[in-house]
Amino acid sequence: MNTEITYKPIGIINSAWKKIDDMPIQSVDAQNTSGYIKLFPEYAKGLTDLNGFSHIMLLYHFHLVKGHSLMVTPFMDTKSHGIFSTRAPKRPNSIGISIVELLKIEGNTIHFSSCDILDETPLLDIKPFFEDFDNRINTQKGWLGNRPVKKTLSDKRFK
Ligand SMILES: C[S@@+](CC[C@H](N)C(=O)[O-])C[C@H]1O[C@@H](n2cnc3c(N)ncnc32)[C@H](O)[C@@H]1O
Repeated sequence: MNTEITYKPIGIINSAWKKIDDMPIQSVDAQNTSGYIKLFPEYAKGLTDLNGFSHIMLLYHFHLVKGHSLMVTPFMDTKSHGIFSTRAPKRPNSIGISIVELLKIEGNTIHFSSCDILDETPLLDIKPFFEDFDNRINTQKGWLGNRPVKKTLSDKRFK
């Protein structure tokens, strides 16, 4: 079996965030920041009917991360955790996922707010957020427990 998989970007995410530190660590903390996607024109037809959704999920490649670590100290803690129990970018497959608010679609440009994504990040996929599928209640929060979110901005640890 061939275990190599190759994905091609379908567009580029543009944002106000030009450096990896001092930017939001999750989109929920970035409600006042906007971004836009330039979808490559050959994929524009795939945007048909997306404009009725208030939120979308963006899957993208953390393009500035080099290599990966199986144990990381995430932004939200001072202790080390397994990479798969965190949302840290330094992953074996450097894939990020952000739920953002869809503002408008103009041709192959998609405007959104709640952006925790660096400028010029390659976009891999877009999916509609659908609360009937995607919301859960009474979830277990692992090592995060019920602690209040104290840190909302990134630093250079995963560069
Ligand atoms: C903790 S991750 C969470 C991203 C996403 N919401 C997730 O859960 O997959 C967000 C941080 O990743 C870093 N980051 C964002 N875009 C990046 C990119 N294209 N390359 C490398 N690091 C990036 C920034 O430090 C940002 O604060």
